[in-house]
Amino acid sequence: MYTWEDRARAASEKAQSLTLRPENTAGVVRAYIEHKLGDTGHLQKLYYIGPQFRRERPQKGRYRQFFQIGAEVIGPVTSGSESPLRDAEVLEMLATLLDELGIERASESNEFRGWKLTLNSVGSATDRPRYVAALREALAHVKHLMCEDNQRRAETNPLRVLDSKDEADQELINALPKIADYLDDDSKSHFAQVLAALDACSVPYTVNPRLVRGLDYYTRTTFEFTVETGLGTQNALLGGGRYDGLSEMIGGPKAPGIGFAIGEDRLILTLQAQTTEAAEKKLDAYIAPMGVEQNAAALALARELRREGLSIEVGDGTFRLKKSFEVADRVARSILILGENEVASGEITVKNFATGEQEKIARSDLPSTLR
Ligand code: HAM
Repeated sequence: MYTWEDRARAASEKAQSLTLRPENTAGVVRAYIEHKLGDTGHLQKLYYIGPQFRRERPQKGRYRQFFQIGAEVIGPVTSGSESPLRDAEVLEMLATLLDELGIERASESNEFRGWKLTLNSVGSATDRPRYVAALREALAHVKHLMCEDNQRRAETNPLRVLDSKDEADQELINALPKIADYLDDDSKSHFAQVLAALDACSVPYTVNPRLVRGLDYYTRTTFEFTVETGLGTQNALLGGGRYDGLSEMIGGPKAPGIGFAIGEDRLILTLQAQTTEAAEKKLDAYIAPMGVEQNAAALALARELRREGLSIEVGDGTFRLKKSFEVADRVARSILILGENEVASGEITVKNFATGEQEKIARSDLPSTLR
């Protein structure tokens, strides 16, 4: 819970104490304990959709009230809850969700577009304090060279220094000890198995040793999916990780778990940015049938090309050639003219609007030419 004294607005008013919910994972684990879900012996897969509240400085994609779609997989160790397979399963499901929503994957040639999965292992409950101690020790020598925010973080929560975006401090931060060097053998093997399962499912990822994330309950795998399109600096579309000790921390039985929360507002901003881009993008081709007799052949050609993954619009045989050209130039990159001769010969007249070139192309070569 998030509790603070709100500022009094007038001298006569009293300050109010406010408590708001910043996230749901701890609440879900509390419910797991309260309802004794562990006694079933089964793996629990729980979800939530709803508002969360954080006292952060608002900007595009960062609000004081925002919405999350989250899920948690939790259960006794005997249910398989601690298995690295669970981590990979959750990540594979999220990758599939983003694919199916039509959000592109970032590629090597263009990492500034599409989604990107970044992950790390922050180790077990015993690895982490050893690492934090090493980090404090290293920071003690360099923190005076860092920005004010990082000087404060070095004292209060040294892990947060790793999240810093301060340009001038990056070199110093990159030289700090890495958590990977403080993982015990079990944590190392757990993480290696998560990565191997992701490889087996062809889910692309980048390991970022600086991804520690802000919440204190994380152990082992932590992850974020980011997108550059539409979100500006608040580019984390969703985040999550494993929290093997959380249940015990709040008085419950041992119940390892892993989960995620999608920022619903950010998901919508991303989809809107994609839709605008798609609407502005021209179609691959416009098919102009020359006379109503060619309408059926035009539709058959459209079907053939759409099946090849091309975006096609079909005109109508009643349109005059001038009108077809005008419409085609507005909506598509090329026009395909389909008259009686073209249907008979299988050679279609194609005009590319960008180059102005017009040529006859064999029907079977159309997909490659239009792409
Ligand atoms: P989180 O990274 O703090 O994780 O938040 C998850 C997502 O919520 C972020 O990636 C972002 O998309 C969205 N989000 C966070 N803060 C804001 C904000 N102020 N405005 C708009 N969107 C925001 C958690 O909350 C963990 N409970 C996730 C989790 C589940 N870990 C394990 N299980």
